[in-house]
Amino acid sequence: MVLPVDLLVIEHKLILQAVEQIQREIEQIQTNGKVNPDFIVRAVDFFRSYADRFHHGKEEGILFKELSQKQMNASDKKVMLDLTLEHASARRTVTELEKANENYVSGQKQTLNNILHLLADIVKLYRTHIEKEDNHFFYPCMKYFSAQETKEMQTKFLNFNQNFTDETYKKVVENLKA
Ligand SMILES: [Fe+2]
Ligand SMILES: [Fe+2]
Repeated sequence: MVLPVDLLVIEHKLILQAVEQIQREIEQIQTNGKVNPDFIVRAVDFFRSYADRFHHGKEEGILFKELSQKQMNASDKKVMLDLTLEHASARRTVTELEKANENYVSGQKQTLNNILHLLADIVKLYRTHIEKEDNHFFYPCMKYFSAQETKEMQTKFLNFNQNFTDETYKKVVENLKA
């Protein structure tokens, strides 16, 4: 049977591709001693629209929300809280990256190191986070839902994706695939 969380696992693959691009950009910056501000703008757009609004939107808005109405065991509960905090931390890091990039563009070249740190934080954060969700959280959590609830969740996920009309999202996904 196809599970709703399979969809989230598939979306992780695109996020991990973006993470790989970030890793390559870190190496570029280290080699060239300069930042490519356009790349950072596109990365900020991707993590904000795809990873956060589109992907975390389903995790928090549907999966976690429905789980929180279940009698979860203490360890699953703890992991869900950690995952939520990591989403918040990712949001903050992306906003800091956007600001650092603006400062860099306006001539404050000393923000280069800050940008490098923030990019490295994003790589580390998403790799750990996705590993946790894929291998330690999503599938064990499906035990809390009946077959009927699982089916309904699948429909909610598909509807969410279909109704998602963020233009930035479409552009960034195309850019990433190009
Ligand atoms: Fe997540
Ligand atoms: Fe995720």
